[in-house]
Order: sequence, then structure tokens, then C-alpha cells
Amino acid sequence: MPVNLLFLGTQKPQPMMTLTTQQQQQLDELIALLKIPSISADSNYKVAVAEAADWVCAALASAGCEGTKVIPTAGHPIVYGEKIIDPSLPIVLVYGHYDVQPPDPIELWDSPPFEPVIKTTEIHPHGAIFARGACDDKGQFFMHIKALENMIAHNTLACNVKFMIEGEEEVGSDHLEQFVKENKDQLRADVILISDTGIGNINAPAITTGLRGMSYMEVTVTGPNRDLHSGLYGGTVANPINILCDMISSLHDDQRRITIPGFYDAVVEYTPEERKTIEQAPIDDTAFKKALDLDALMGESGYTTLERKSLRPTLDVNGIWGGYTGEGSKTVIASKAHAKISMRLVPNQDWVAISTLFENHFKALAPKGVTVSVKTHHGGKPYVTPLNSMGYQAAYKAYEESFGVAPVALRDGGSIPIVPMFEEVLGIKTILMGFGLDSDAIHSPNENYGLVNFFKGIETIPLFYKHFAALFKQGEA
Ligand code: BES
Ligand code: MN
Ligand code: MN
Repeated sequence: MPVNLLFLGTQKPQPMMTLTTQQQQQLDELIALLKIPSISADSNYKVAVAEAADWVCAALASAGCEGTKVIPTAGHPIVYGEKIIDPSLPIVLVYGHYDVQPPDPIELWDSPPFEPVIKTTEIHPHGAIFARGACDDKGQFFMHIKALENMIAHNTLACNVKFMIEGEEEVGSDHLEQFVKENKDQLRADVILISDTGIGNINAPAITTGLRGMSYMEVTVTGPNRDLHSGLYGGTVANPINILCDMISSLHDDQRRITIPGFYDAVVEYTPEERKTIEQAPIDDTAFKKALDLDALMGESGYTTLERKSLRPTLDVNGIWGGYTGEGSKTVIASKAHAKISMRLVPNQDWVAISTLFENHFKALAPKGVTVSVKTHHGGKPYVTPLNSMGYQAAYKAYEESFGVAPVALRDGGSIPIVPMFEEVLGIKTILMGFGLDSDAIHSPNENYGLVNFFKGIETIPLFYKHFAALFKQGEA
């Protein structure tokens, strides 16, 4: 059956919840943005990335921003726009990213990644939009543009606003730091607001108060000077792929602790009381397993699932290759084997120091008969935001008002390395008002974003502005 026909043609995806004319319009606009394949990692898509930047710039202008511009960098462009209404009001700087992860493995998508469709699922009974970037981060930063448009239209904008939407987040934000350093004055603000994380549970919302840092490495193990016949040479020389697997497997012990000497030295350990408060919204292991079709979870002993994915550092192989992986079989001992390895870091681990520890340890693991090279790709610091800041308090009140329940604080496991950079360079704290779910499959096939999450975001964001302006005024009084 030609399944793909479902996604061809001009037929508009039908939403599964009743939308107002305005909501339908907002959704149609998001669909247009999601159709642009702005894959920052792949140079074949450079034109599409630029097209997405232009699209975002136009969307900012039509929402009422002034001074909108697409700023070229040595990589992908940064989009800027602002709405300054009153110098006595606080300034909110909104950050987001219009670039997306590559969609592969493409064959695992139920519908093409850049042809958005709306479907209901068990998790999103009111419908979700399926497309690469739906949640990470096009659907999320776009909520801010639509929220601003509403506030301007209803004359309720309570703060000055600046937007900075970049196109290189998924590849390490290489050119953003320089831009920020060179434009400190233009980017002056009282708080940074980002929707690029999760909400935990759409009925019992969580505000993200922490992100992990990251150290991303690539290793190569080299054995003989050429690929060898595995019959003529097998059993006489070190096989780089076998050795690489041995080395990788030795990086964890039987308690799933990382064996790199010194790796845990700087890690902040929490008291049982602190662990309890951090774990306000514990993960239901049964549901977690079910969602992934697993019969068991695995992680560092002595920690809960939530702790394992937020408070504790981790090490994961992201890719491993070498030898023959084509059709059929080929008897060969490869000359080289490679792996990409990421470590998620927590306070107070320093990613440069951890990269060095990794490099030294990994090289020391190599037996005679192979050589090892190690390269650091990129890294970033972990981030924790205090709960007593004006920004956090404003977010808390906004969620409470919008959802009718008090939000909980949640440390998340992902990384947004520019968040600690903003604090260092601009001296501004970030508030992470994400509306995604772990099940939204970001970076995976069938990425999706709930319509309820999208519209709830558009509704909640203006409440943040209202409460932030009020707290700011109180603070000045
Ligand atoms: N939006 C994610 C980060 C995220 C998602 C944090 C969900 C918390 C919850 C971001 O786009 C991302 O994917 N970051 C990368 C890091 C980057 C250096 C490639 C990551 O976490 O792998
Ligand atoms: Mn993101
Ligand atoms: Mn991402």
C-alpha cells in the first residue's frame, strides 16, 4: 500500500482539537516553519538554514518587533528583533534556536520529517504535530513570537522584549559566544527566557531549574597499517574494533559507575533531605519502562531514575564504527575503529578538566599493538538556577495562574551550553520555561509536540511578563 500518499498533495493536516481561527492561523504558521529543513549539521542544507532565519526574522517583524535583522556569522545566522516600549520597564531577552537535528534514520519516520502532520496519540489525545523541530525548538520558540504578538495586539505587553534566535544550537553554538561578547550592550536584559526543555507533566507542570553540562569526545584506535584478511591474520594481531569495545566496556564498573580516575572528584553530592526536595516530581519507573518497551532500566546503583538523569554524571557512546558494515559479509580485520562518546556533567565538574581526564585515561587503556587518538569536539558547563530569583518567582506564578496548580522544580538531563555562557558574559540568569515532554522524541524519528503544550505555552508566557514586571516594580520600590 502506498503509505506515503497520505502525506502527499495539498491536503491540510486536520487538528484533533477545536481551534479558534487565531489558533488555526498560529498552527499554519508553525507548519510553514517546520517545512524548512534547517539542519545545521549538514552543509547541504545551508540554504535551508538561511531560509529559516529569514522566515523567523519576518515572523518577528509581523508580530510587532522592531530592528529585526538576520546577522550573518562565520556559521549560520543569528536572528534579532526587539520591542522596547518603556525604559523604566524590565527587559526580557528571549533565546531559541531555529536549527534542527538531522532527521536520520529517515526510514524510521512514519511520515516525512519536513512534511508536518497532526495526529492524536495516547500521550497527546488532543493531537500533536509530527515533524523534525516540532518541539526542539521551532514549536517552542515560536510560542514566544505568538505570545508577543498577542500582548502587543491587546496592549498588555508589560516588559521590554529582545529576541535572539540562533541557527547553531544543535552543533554547539560555535559563533554565538563571540556575537554575545561583541553585543553586550544591545543584549542588556534583566532576565533570559528560554523554552527549549520539558514540562514534566502537562497537568502537573515542572519548571526546569538545572541542566547538565557536556563533554563530547571522539576516539580512534589504530592497529595494523591496512585492513587484513581475518583468516590470514585473525588471532595474531590486536583487532582495533575488539580492543575499542574492551576499552569502552571498561569505562563503567559493575555498579555502572564511571571508572575514569578523578571523574567524580568535583561532583556535588546531596544530602538525603536535598535529594528529596530535588525529587519533587519523581519518575514513575513502570511508565518509563513501558514507554520505551523495556523490561528493565539500568543505571548507577544507589540512585533513582530521576537522579540518574539529572543529578548524576554519565558517559555514553553515541556512535561506533569501523570495518565492514555493508550488505552480506566480508572477512576483514579493520585497520581502524572509531567511537563518539559524550559525558553529561553536573555541578561542579569542569568540562575541560573532564575532557583531559578522559583523554589521559583512554590513552592509558590502550594495550600494546594499537595506538589511540582522542579529540575533544565541544563541551559546556552545567547550569542551576536559584529558586529565589525574581525570574523563577515570576515563572512560578505564571504556571500557577495558567495551570491552576503550583509547579514543581525539575533538574533536567539535557544540555544547553549557552545558558551558563550567558551568565558568564552577560551576567544574566536564565529561566527555562519549557513545554515539551520526554516522549516528544526530540532528536529521534517521529519528533512531535502536543497542540495543548503549544497553545498552553502561548497562554502562559504573557503571565510571566505580567508577574516579572510586577515583581520588578516591587523590587525597585
Ligand atoms: N533542547 C535541547 C536540550 C534539552 C532538551 C534540555 C530537553 C533539557 C530537556 C537542545 O537542543 C539540545 O539538544 N542540546 C544538546 C547539546 C548540544 C551541545 C548539542 C544536548 O543536550 O544533547
Ligand atoms: Mn533545543
Ligand atoms: Mn536539541
